[in-house]
Amino acid sequence: MFYRLTQAWRAIFIKVSKEDRELALSILKETWEREIFLSLSEYDQNHSIRIVKEIILEVKTPSKLLLRLSLLHDCGKSSSLTLIDRALYSKFKISRKEISKHSYLGYLKVKQWDLELAELISKHHSEGEDNTIETFQYYDNRN
Ligand SMILES: [Fe+2]
Ligand SMILES: [Fe+2]
Repeated sequence: MFYRLTQAWRAIFIKVSKEDRELALSILKETWEREIFLSLSEYDQNHSIRIVKEIILEVKTPSKLLLRLSLLHDCGKSSSLTLIDRALYSKFKISRKEISKHSYLGYLKVKQWDLELAELISKHHSEGEDNTIETFQYYDNRN
């Protein structure tokens, strides 16, 4: 328990490195998606980049959509969550209601730009037969 909290606190305070940000921007080409990504907390940017790095290492020819979903999936999370909320959120999971709320808010943010991506974001915590979401969830849960 103490270890998990320490781990969460550490994760919150790590800044996004220049290389990692460049990697993200090499995948996100459009201004709107870059703006959304850069508006995420450093914590969420790091989380998303870790997912992308693992996918690049382990998935044979990952689709552009999978990589963009990985970078933007949590864009509905409020950046006003307190640090303690975030530690609890990442390590102990908060309520289902909160999860479906951020999926839906993310959908609303992205749907005007890219409906296909927005729909994946809205379902990124749901179970289903979609291959992209299944692959994404495997890596999201590990990171
Ligand atoms: Fe999420
Ligand atoms: Fe996530």
